[in-house]
Amino acid sequence: MRLLAPSILAADFLHLEKDIRLINGHADIIHLDVMDGTLVPNISFGFSVIDAVAEIAEKPMDAHLMIVHPEKYFARCAKAGCSMLSFHLEAARKARRSPARLLDEVRSLGMTPGLAINPDIPVEDVFPYLDHAGYILVMSVFAGFGGQKFIPETYGRVKALKAEIARRGLDCMVEIDGGADLSNAAALYEAGVDIIVAGSAVFKAPDPAAAIAAMKGA
Ligand code: DX5
Ligand code: ZN
Repeated sequence: MRLLAPSILAADFLHLEKDIRLINGHADIIHLDVMDGTLVPNISFGFSVIDAVAEIAEKPMDAHLMIVHPEKYFARCAKAGCSMLSFHLEAARKARRSPARLLDEVRSLGMTPGLAINPDIPVEDVFPYLDHAGYILVMSVFAGFGGQKFIPETYGRVKALKAEIARRGLDCMVEIDGGADLSNAAALYEAGVDIIVAGSAVFKAPDPAAAIAAMKGA
C-alpha cells in the first residue's frame, strides 16, 4: 500500500479548519500527534483539538500517543472517532504493561492497533508483537518535534521488519514518521513502507494537496 498521512502538528493552528479542509480530499489518513512532555520532551494537543478535527475529518484518524500510560486514553480515542491508535513500546515498558495485551485492548475498542518505536530501539524488539499489531510505527526521527531531519537507517529497519512480516505471513502494515518529503518518499515506499506520515512536507508546502499527490506518486 502507498498511503500518505499528513500530521496536523505542522498545520496552522490559528486556521486549523482551513488546513484540514485543504487535505481532506487528498490525504488517506489524518495523523494526530499527542505528546505529554514526559515520554517526549514536548507537549502538543489533546482531546479538545482531536474532537474538533473529528467534526470535519473526512478520512480515518490515526492517533499517535507519545505519552506515558497510553492505556488511560484508549477508550477516549475510540470515542473521539479514531480508527487507528499507536502507542510506544517504550511507554509500555515504563508502565510494565504487556504490549500484546495493550494492542489487543486497542483492537477490542474497534481501532487498528499500532506499536511505535523510536530510532534507538532495535526493530527486532517489536517482532514478538507482530501477531497483535495492525501496524508498526517506525519513527524516522526521535519522537517529540516536527521538522527534524530524516534518519537514513530507517530504510534498513523497514526492510528487516517487512521481511519478518512476510516470512510469518502476517497482516501488519508499516508506517514511518518524521522527516519524510518528496526526496525520500519513493525510496520509502520501495523499501516497503505502507503509510508515510508527513507534517512539514505537506503543511509548509505552498499547495498541500499537490504535495500529497507528489509524494504518493513519487
Ligand atoms: C514527531 C511526530 C511526527 C511529526 C512529523 O514526534 O510524531 O508525526 O509531526 O513531522 P515532520 O513530517 O515535519 O517531520
Ligand atoms: Zn506522529
